[in-house]
Amino acid sequence: MTGNTTNTDMLLGVMGDPIAQSKSPLMHTAALKALGIPGAYVPLHIAPGQLGEAVQAIRTLGFRGINVTIPHKIAVMEYLDRLDESALAGGAVNTIVNDNGVLTGYNTDGIGYVRSLKAEAAPELAGARILVLGAGGAARGVISALLQENPASVVIANRTADKAHELAASWQAAGSVTGVSMEEIAGIIPDSDIVINTTSVGMYPYPDELPLDPGLLHKGLVVSDLIYNPLRTRLLEEGLKAGCSIHGGLGMFIYQGAYALEYWTGRAAPVETMRQAMLEAFGVSEADM
Ligand code: ATR
Repeated sequence: MTGNTTNTDMLLGVMGDPIAQSKSPLMHTAALKALGIPGAYVPLHIAPGQLGEAVQAIRTLGFRGINVTIPHKIAVMEYLDRLDESALAGGAVNTIVNDNGVLTGYNTDGIGYVRSLKAEAAPELAGARILVLGAGGAARGVISALLQENPASVVIANRTADKAHELAASWQAAGSVTGVSMEEIAGIIPDSDIVINTTSVGMYPYPDELPLDPGLLHKGLVVSDLIYNPLRTRLLEEGLKAGCSIHGGLGMFIYQGAYALEYWTGRAAPVETMRQAMLEAFGVSEADM
């Protein structure tokens, strides 16, 4: 019962509910092909009541790796044998590695986000003054990874201000992290280098919504949005108009997958192939980005 050692094909998949919309199978299938690794990455529709059995099935069926998505990222933690530091710090798991039946949970969302932000928009995060909109699960993963880069400050702004205060308090020892209400950001943005939207405001099917007053955006600011549907959110459009550098959510999606693939295969992920597969899925070319 400790994994199928005679199967040479690499079995990978993603568990979620719903799962049909996930772009992970497409991206990882292209990546496996590019690496010349025989195997498959499949979507697995798992209802919340079946999660424990599904995790046991990873061992039984000999899956090497699993991605975990909404709504299972927190609930899955109790079924795993080990939790990596990234999972503990982020409070959630998006990647499981199966080593001969021993399941370890990782969180590659935060490090995937930071790698993409540095590659595409803000190469130097040390000393940066960062404003994060939102205090949910996505914010937690992103902030824990950002703090590894030694920013000068992180301010968390949230509609429910108490959640921002609580999240900030949990990082008291890690650096200058404070929580504020959304109303207070007018006084904070002028002294910020980077603003990051981790809320769902502006996501399909409500692409016209904005998480902040666009009049607050100023030249020199990096505006980053975790949302990748649409690829160019209204917040990013407003950022461009205001002379900001912009950074969309597609890179985070690609790099969280790249880190997961690297954990499963021990090989460098073919990031360009993965990016092309995603752009094709969205029907856009590099020039449109
Ligand atoms: P995720 O894992 O995607 O972060 P979450 O944990 O449910 O999801 O968190 C959603 C975040 O988006 C929260 O910060 C939420 O604010 P509240 O804590 O006040 O609920 C924020 N959010 C969602 N819809 C919002 C809206 N219409 N306006 C402002 N913030 C919103």
